[in-house]
Amino acid sequence: MSNCPGMPGQFKSFNPVIRRIKVLTMKTTTLSLHTKFQIGRVDPRIFGGFLEHLGRAVYEGVYQPGHSRADARGFRTDVLDALRPMRMTAMRYPGGNFASGYHWEDGVGPREGRPRVRDLAWQSLEPNTFGTDEYLALCRTMEWMPMLTVNMGTGTPEEARNWVEYTNTPAGTKYADLRAANGAVEPYGVKLWCLGNEMDGQWQLGHVPADQYAIRAQQAAKMMKDVDNSIELVACGSCGLFMPTYMEWDRQVLDYLGDDADYVSLHRYVGNEANDTADFLAVTNSIDRQIEEMDAACRFVQAKRRSRKRAYLCFDEWNVWYKNHEVDGTGKFDPHLLEEVYNLEDALVVAGFLHSFLRHADVLKIANLAQIVNVIAPVLTREDAVLIQSICYPFAMFAARRDGVSLQVAVDGPRYESKNHGTTSIIDASAILDGNRLHVFLTNRGL
Ligand code: AHR
Repeated sequence: MSNCPGMPGQFKSFNPVIRRIKVLTMKTTTLSLHTKFQIGRVDPRIFGGFLEHLGRAVYEGVYQPGHSRADARGFRTDVLDALRPMRMTAMRYPGGNFASGYHWEDGVGPREGRPRVRDLAWQSLEPNTFGTDEYLALCRTMEWMPMLTVNMGTGTPEEARNWVEYTNTPAGTKYADLRAANGAVEPYGVKLWCLGNEMDGQWQLGHVPADQYAIRAQQAAKMMKDVDNSIELVACGSCGLFMPTYMEWDRQVLDYLGDDADYVSLHRYVGNEANDTADFLAVTNSIDRQIEEMDAACRFVQAKRRSRKRAYLCFDEWNVWYKNHEVDGTGKFDPHLLEEVYNLEDALVVAGFLHSFLRHADVLKIANLAQIVNVIAPVLTREDAVLIQSICYPFAMFAARRDGVSLQVAVDGPRYESKNHGTTSIIDASAILDGNRLHVFLTNRGL
């Protein structure tokens, strides 16, 4: 990576001419860039995260009142300190699958009056002691941009509209007054809202076919924007390439929602189940492809509707996840679920996702690493300690240099044939031009 502290400052007087950077591998790789070959400004929101009521993400993760490292509000300062170098931006909450059975009113007001409920997504017990106001206080503390997922599974469009009133409107009406009574007189101004989660999946509470989801989502979108027309909405896209409705779901939903969809969501979890590292590292090719296919769906619908407005992409769940599939929290309050442990190749694949996001900076505007603590996360807690995992490092390295415009990078060097993802360059690369400073991000996939 160029311009790291301690690295030679070879780009200090960077001129707008083609530069060739030689990378020493077994053979030479040449990268060609030009300051005029710009993809698009990097939206800081692609460095987002995701906090779900799942396993020990909230309880024993970010929130543990009474813990020796918890502050007066119950936030675990050791966890927050571990997350700070990642400079996360948009923080998606409260799910995930959890969102499709969540009623936000259970999680506001005096804690002693909040109901303990059965969460059907993960079969856990949900005490609701952490809810909307705690999450928004945490966002303020960490300078995260709030991003709320409304319940499009078992919830109603009206419930979604009421949540916008609770968070975004001045006191004087029912839900805004409720917020004020709960201690937050001024509106929070939550700009980003997801219209449900993975609604194409049969595992999702309240799953319905695309046409029915589209009707629900449009009803919610209209009322939510009627309450606050400055908000931005993310429609549920198909949640994976493996889904039989891949792209067809997206086409139908985007077509029906029309201009109400500001973004469409993509999800992707990858793993090295076959213990084939070369193939695993090549997965970046298929992430590029997934983004380009979803972009094609957006452009198709825009053209068909002859609309000025097009939906952009929101990759609101992504990570490596394949080793830990413990998902049954039956009857437990804070079960150990999905506590994945990461290694070096996982970190390289996380870098691969980020390369891909930068390469598509013109169309990809938001992305959320799933998740932030304990559940498929860069940080794991024990009672008295935190473990910072390998995937934290590439994320922090990119995030520290995220300001600027993404440049095209032509990579000319050794390649290999991967089993499932085609021809793969040993060096993967992306670049950000920030004024007269150039950051080049490189991953060496040579075994
Ligand atoms: O991130 C874990 C789960 O993966 C989410 O709840 C769901 O949306 C996805 O299937």
